[in-house]
Amino acid sequence: MHDCFTIAELTEYEALGFCERGRAVREVEAGTFILEGDLPVNTDGGLKAFGHPLGATGLRMCNELYLQLSAKFGWRMKRARKPHQEKQKLFLLQEEVVRMGERLKGKGAVVTGAGRGIGREIALALAAEGAGVVVVDPGAARDGSGTDLALADQVVSEIKNGGGRAVASFHSVTDFKAAEDIIKSCVDSFGSVDIVVNCAGILRERMIWNMTEDDWDSVIAVHLKGTFNVCRHACVKMREQRSGRIINLTSDAWRGTVGQSNYGSAKGGIVSLTRAIAREMGRYGVTANCVAPIAATRMTMTEEVKAGMKKRLESGLITREFYDSFMAMPGPEYVPPMVVYLASEAAANINGRVFHIEKGRAAIYSEPVETLAIYKINDDGMFTVEELAEFVPKTLLTGYVNPAPAEPPKEKKN
Ligand SMILES: NC(=O)c1ccc[n+]([C@@H]2O[C@H](COP(=O)([O-])OP(=O)(O)OC[C@H]3O[C@@H](n4cnc5c(N)ncnc54)[C@H](O)[C@@H]3O)[C@@H](O)[C@H]2O)c1
Repeated sequence: MHDCFTIAELTEYEALGFCERGRAVREVEAGTFILEGDLPVNTDGGLKAFGHPLGATGLRMCNELYLQLSAKFGWRMKRARKPHQEKQKLFLLQEEVVRMGERLKGKGAVVTGAGRGIGREIALALAAEGAGVVVVDPGAARDGSGTDLALADQVVSEIKNGGGRAVASFHSVTDFKAAEDIIKSCVDSFGSVDIVVNCAGILRERMIWNMTEDDWDSVIAVHLKGTFNVCRHACVKMREQRSGRIINLTSDAWRGTVGQSNYGSAKGGIVSLTRAIAREMGRYGVTANCVAPIAATRMTMTEEVKAGMKKRLESGLITREFYDSFMAMPGPEYVPPMVVYLASEAAANINGRVFHIEKGRAAIYSEPVETLAIYKINDDGMFTVEELAEFVPKTLLTGYVNPAPAEPPKEKKN
């Protein structure tokens, strides 16, 4: 069946009715549960190919079992491997576990915004895999104001105490010249700049009609210009080296949110910037990808945010279920594995993509492509306004739903 399941897990499936009572234990005792065993679970591959090397199962696996037993697993079957390939894959997974801690041995890495939150977790994870890390953080407040130099120093101490290599940089990524110094510090300290993770971030939430020029400029400066600054100088070195990994933190907000037009625009800009870098630098062996995380940090889980959610729950604007899941938002420690993976040799051929990562869920965004088109071949290809008004709704907008339709004006309360 699957070599990473424990007896307990097998019997759970039994209890769920996937096979008759007692059979799983009998199979385990007889040793027939190993690969090519005959429990009623996709004997052609499928589930085996999706097992976790460390035996993590839970709901995801139950769901998989259900899909397979009820023959609703079409796409998985297409990818299912032949039994001999299956064995090979499991073997490789075991080897990988052995190599953990050395995936980035000898690499030089820069992580911006590494003094706290997601950046800190990423810096620790890269160092734990053998990279020397420049921990960049001036220790700004959530809105970008002020400095606290102790933050970066603390993370550097943590890495060093764990036997890793790290140096602190207190520069702001908003400064083009300072970004050059950050890259230089990595090369001087660790011999090369192989990995760049742009994590620095601030937030200034306002509705567009209340947003000040400074709210706009500050957020764009840290996120979009800061990411450009660091990538720009890193790319000079990476092009010379003919190798490198750039991982830029974006946000699901790049698709459009409420109250974050500055942040969403910066994060959308980071996606476009990353896709451009991927295309310009790919030929030099450099990849650039984005990661959109979800994690409870001071950015997402402030007292103000919590109070706001409570108010929305009490006024019936959100369900208890939504409220509970928001309040249980997992910490930033679930983000680094995706970043380490994209920084590793295993991801050498992944370039220009946007991934989402959070506890228990990894996803990839579709490529931005045109989905439908209409053509005009007469009148020199010039559409009239009347033609567009008639044909666009019937063709290009089939099934379209306006994300924010107009509402009637609210009556003023006395
Ligand atoms: N937390 C989430 O759920 C979430 C969701 C989507 C995207 N992100 C992105 O992930 C990244 C990290 O977010 P976080 O939640 O860990 O935030 P955080 O506020 O905990 O950490 C951000 C860090 O960036 C540093 N920073 C601010 N301005 C800087 C500057 N000019 N130069 C260098 N460093 C600077 C801050 O001092 C802080 O330590 C951000 O880019 C954020 O937009 C986070």
